[in-house]
Amino acid sequence: MTEIVGPDNVVTRDLESYLVDWTGRFRGSGRIVVRPASADEVARIVLASRRHGVAIVPQGGNTSLVGGSIPMKGEVILSTRRMSRIGTVDPAARQITVGAGAILGDVHRAAAAAGLRYPVDFGARDSATIGGTIATNAGGISVLRYGMTRRHIVGVEAVLGTGDIVSHMNGLVKDNTGYDMAGLLCASEGTLGIVTAARLQLVPAPTHRTTCLVGFDSLAALLASVSVLSRWSEEIDALEMFLDSGAQLVNRTFGRPVPFTAAAYLLIEMSSHCDRDEDLGDTLRTCEGVRELAVAGSDLQRQNLWSLRDEHTPAINSLGPPLKFDVSVPVSDLARFIDDVRSRVESAHPETTMFVFGHAGDGNVHLNVAGVDLSSGIVADIEDEVMNRVGHWGGSVSAEHGIGIAKKRFLTLSRSPAEIAAMKSVKAALDPDGIMNPNVLFA
Ligand code: FAD
Ligand code: MLT
Ligand code: ZN
Repeated sequence: MTEIVGPDNVVTRDLESYLVDWTGRFRGSGRIVVRPASADEVARIVLASRRHGVAIVPQGGNTSLVGGSIPMKGEVILSTRRMSRIGTVDPAARQITVGAGAILGDVHRAAAAAGLRYPVDFGARDSATIGGTIATNAGGISVLRYGMTRRHIVGVEAVLGTGDIVSHMNGLVKDNTGYDMAGLLCASEGTLGIVTAARLQLVPAPTHRTTCLVGFDSLAALLASVSVLSRWSEEIDALEMFLDSGAQLVNRTFGRPVPFTAAAYLLIEMSSHCDRDEDLGDTLRTCEGVRELAVAGSDLQRQNLWSLRDEHTPAINSLGPPLKFDVSVPVSDLARFIDDVRSRVESAHPETTMFVFGHAGDGNVHLNVAGVDLSSGIVADIEDEVMNRVGHWGGSVSAEHGIGIAKKRFLTLSRSPAEIAAMKSVKAALDPDGIMNPNVLFA
């Protein structure tokens, strides 16, 4: 590897941060990290790995919440972080070309400097890389309005498991010339190849933004208002929910002020080219169960409101790695699903606490169970209970984080045998030696 990337970019010491996942649940055993700077170098690494029968785990920001970026069996870690170039914005096409190792938050800033916006956004924005968001088809807080990552990738450059470089970066929005390589690599979790660069579609930046926190008497009332709000306006960027227990935990852990007490909180953000505050207020007045409202009057106040939501993940993790579920069910069933699953888990395991938060507008809820010994048999009991209920309500076992290592056992609940066989055929064609992230996705 040294002759490909140079001695400074083959790391064999102090590997701790590469070997443990963000939550602390998954610990790997790799002994070498390679840090290529270009697709050519990545291709040479893949070819050398094929020759020597060595497997590779691609790693970007290592913020995966399903253990996807960890070398569980001593695989070589290929860090994409040096491929972090951010190109200039093409104002006519509203597109930008970036390296796979570019940090999501840096791409937001580059787009904003050109008066535009890259609308994929979530709490790990200052650590996650563009390549990681493509490999997991990341969702986040603005899916309701803008969709998931796949919708914004108009071109991709990647090195397949064969060692071939594929590059289709012309940025043409209309280009029906066969299989969509970018679409295929989205949610592939590093199992088909390594994304080295991407061309991203940006959207216009709004001139007026409103952020407010609404308190409700109950989660059911909150979710009823979500269906009113999402029908009412296409200008809603985020409808994020959390409960009193989560708000109090964030307050205790990070000192974030909770402006008022309520059973359930809905963080609403909308953006537009005109002031829609009054319309939003009028619509909220028609919703039942609204207890109180706080509107952000400054950037600092907006930041404080968002911290209450974004800091759920680190606050819960500070209690010890939780058992995490990232599931979706049809929006109309979300309230009944949450009631059902929470009462079953908490009554069977009274020593646990389930934190409930997520992206209310698109039916995606994060259920984080704290107080579980992750090395005990209780894990499988709780997983089976939750996933069984997800199946009952017609949901997905992984809404946005991917399958990784953590959810492999449950892929068959969301995908049919024929679909899994087709996925395996694609993998066999693009990664004939099975060296690309072999521990994830398939059981
Ligand atoms: P990594 O963690 O390094 O890798 C993730 C997966 O992608 C692994 O399988 C890895 O092998 C593969 N991979 C990485 N880079 C490449 C590449 N260049 N080519 C091929 N494969 C690659 N996700 C959401 O969808 N929505 C959220 O709201 C959300 N919020 C989060 C909040 C917090 C606080 C945290 C810690 C995580 C959150 N995530 C969320 C998880 C999310 O999946 C990741 O943050 C992100 O998409 C992964 O980017 P990364 O660069 O860290 O990738
Ligand atoms: C979020 O929406 O905050 C995330 O997906 C992170 C999590 O599930 O913990
Ligand atoms: Zn999420």
